[in-house]
Amino acid sequence: MCGIVGYIGYRDAYPIVIKGLERLEYRGYDSAGVALYDGEELHICKTKGKVSDLKDKVEKDIPTKGSLGIGHTRWATHGVPNDVNSHPHQSNSGDIVLIHNGIIENYASIKQELTKRGYSFYSDTDTEVLANLIQEVMKIEKVKLGKAVQIALKQVVGAYAIAVFDRRKPDEIVVARLGSPLAIGIGKNEYFVGSDASPFIEYTSNAIYLEDEEMAIIRIGRDVKVRSINDDEQLDANIQELQLSLEQIEKKGYDHFMLKEIYEQPSAILDTFRGRLLPNEGIIKMSGIEDNLSKFLNANRIVIVACGTSWHAGLVAEYLFEDLARIPVEVEYASEFRYRNPVIKRDDVVIAISQSGETADTLAAIKLAKSMGAFVFGVCNVVGSSIARETNAGAYTHAGPEIGVASTKAFTTQITVLTLIALRLANAKGTLSTSDYKKCLFDLEAIPRRVEEVLDVNDQIVKIAENYSDVANCLYLGRKYNFPVALEGALKLKEISYIHAEGYPAAEMKHGPIALIDEQMPVVVIATKKGNYEKIVSNIQEIKSRRGRIIAVVTQGDTMIKEMADYAIEIPETVEFLTPLIATIPLQLLSYHIAVMRGCNVDQPRNLAKSVTVE
Ligand code: M6R
Repeated sequence: MCGIVGYIGYRDAYPIVIKGLERLEYRGYDSAGVALYDGEELHICKTKGKVSDLKDKVEKDIPTKGSLGIGHTRWATHGVPNDVNSHPHQSNSGDIVLIHNGIIENYASIKQELTKRGYSFYSDTDTEVLANLIQEVMKIEKVKLGKAVQIALKQVVGAYAIAVFDRRKPDEIVVARLGSPLAIGIGKNEYFVGSDASPFIEYTSNAIYLEDEEMAIIRIGRDVKVRSINDDEQLDANIQELQLSLEQIEKKGYDHFMLKEIYEQPSAILDTFRGRLLPNEGIIKMSGIEDNLSKFLNANRIVIVACGTSWHAGLVAEYLFEDLARIPVEVEYASEFRYRNPVIKRDDVVIAISQSGETADTLAAIKLAKSMGAFVFGVCNVVGSSIARETNAGAYTHAGPEIGVASTKAFTTQITVLTLIALRLANAKGTLSTSDYKKCLFDLEAIPRRVEEVLDVNDQIVKIAENYSDVANCLYLGRKYNFPVALEGALKLKEISYIHAEGYPAAEMKHGPIALIDEQMPVVVIATKKGNYEKIVSNIQEIKSRRGRIIAVVTQGDTMIKEMADYAIEIPETVEFLTPLIATIPLQLLSYHIAVMRGCNVDQPRNLAKSVTVE
C-alpha cells in the first residue's frame, strides 16, 4: 500500500508531485508528505491526514520551487499515522531522503545494530531505518548512492518500492522494487516516478515498469540505468507504451469515482467482450485460453485464489465452471491457501483473480502454486501488474482504471471474463450443445444493455436508502448464483458505510442468523425468478413472520415477492448463470447512496486501500 511519486527535470516538481499524490491517494490516505529541493536547500513537509491537508500545509510552510521532488501518501504499517511517521524520512545526517511503499520485516534487528553505531530514530517506521542504513553503507563502503542502496537492500527482508535521493547530489533519484509496484516515466530531459503511471500520464506515454529485485538510477542528462539488485548486472531498460489516458482517470462530472465506475459497467463489459465474444460466428476467442486449452481440458480440478471482491468473483466462477463445463472447482482465500500447506498437483490449474494485480497474498499464492508445478492463469485488470507478469498465462478484464476503493466494475468484468472462459470450456468439452452454446453467447452479448436498464433503478434506490441509512446491521441473502452476490452486497455496504453487514446462503439463515431478525433488521434478499424461486419465497416468509424489513431484488414482472417485501427492486430477466452481472448493480447503488447519506468518504473509506500490497 502507500503511493509514491517523484520528479526530476526542468519543470517545478511540486505541482507534478502533489497532483500525482492526489491520483495515488487510492493506495493509502492516512498521512502524506513531500520533499522538494529548490536548487540550494531541501524542504520537507509532512502531515497526518489527506493529500489536501498536505497541500494546505506545504503552501503555508515551505517554498514550492525547484525541479527535484518526491512525495508519499501513506497507509500505515509501522507506527500510527502522525506527522513524524509520515514520509519522506531522512537519515541522521539529513542527506538521504527516502519514501517507501511496503514493509521491511527485519527492520528491528537493523535498527538495533544502527543504534549501537550511534544512530538515533525519531519515528516508529521501518523506512527511517532504511534511510539510515543507506547513510551508513555510504560512509563505511565509501560508495555513491546507487551502490549504497543496492548494498543496503541486500540486507533487507520484506517488500518495497522506494525512491531516494541524496541532497548533496540533487541530479539523481534512485528507485528499487521488490513486491510493490514502481513505474518510471521517461520524458525529454525529465523523469517521473510513480507507484503506477497515473502521476505522469499527461507528460509522457513511455514508461519502464521495474521488475522485482530491480533498481534504477535516474540521472538528469543520462539514460535510465536499470540494474539487478542481487547480482549487479546491468539490464536493458524495457520502455513500454502506456495504455492509460488522462480522461480515463478523471471523475467526468460524477460526485465520486465509485458512482462513475458503477455507471461505466455497460461499457466496461463491452470492452471485456471486445474481440473475444463473437456470437454471430458462434465462437469465443481468447488467446490465453486457446494457447492453453489442453491444460484446462485435462485439469484434474481448477483452484481459484483471490481476496475480497475478487474472491466473490471466484465463487461465481465456481458455479459457472461446474455448472456449464463440469470441471470441479475449489475457491480459496489467497491468504489461507498460501499458509495452509495445500495439496496442489501438476494437473491442477490455478486461476488467480485480482483487479490491481498487486495483492500480496494473491501473488504469494501464485508463487506457491507455481512452485508445486501447477499451471497458473491470471485474471487481472491492471496491465503489466505483478500478478499479470507472474502468471503463466492470463486474460485482462479491460475494465479501465478503477479508482474507488470499493470494487464495482472490476467485479462485473471479472465475472464476464470468467463466464467467457467457462462457456469456451463447456463448448470444447461438449457439455453444452452447439445450439445451447450459441444461444448463451447471444444472452451474454445482451448483458451490457441489461446493465444499462438496471441503472435506471437509481432514483428508486435513493428513496430506499433514505429509509435505511441509519441502520446498524444488515443481512444479505441469496441462493445459488445469487449467494456470491449477497456476499458482495454485504461487503460493499460494510466497507463504505461502516454498517455491519453479512451475506449468507438464504437456506443457512435458519441455522443461526434467523435469531437476529426482528423489526430492526433489514434483510436484502436477491430473489430472482431463476434462483430457486419457491425456496427463496419461503425464506422471505420466514423473515416476514419475524417482522424483518425486506428489500428484495426481483425479476421484472414479479408479483408474489413484491407483495411481501417492504421494497422490491426489479431487474431485467436473463438466464440464471448471468444473473450475478445484473443483480449486483442495485446492491452497489444501495451501498453507495447509504454511504453518501451517512457522510462517509465513499472513494476512500477509513482504514482501507485500493491495492493491498502487505500481507
Ligand atoms: O486488487 P484485488 O482484486 O486483488 O483486491 C482484492 C481486495 O483487496 C479487493 O477486492 C477489496 O476487497 C475491495 N475493496 C472490495 O471492494
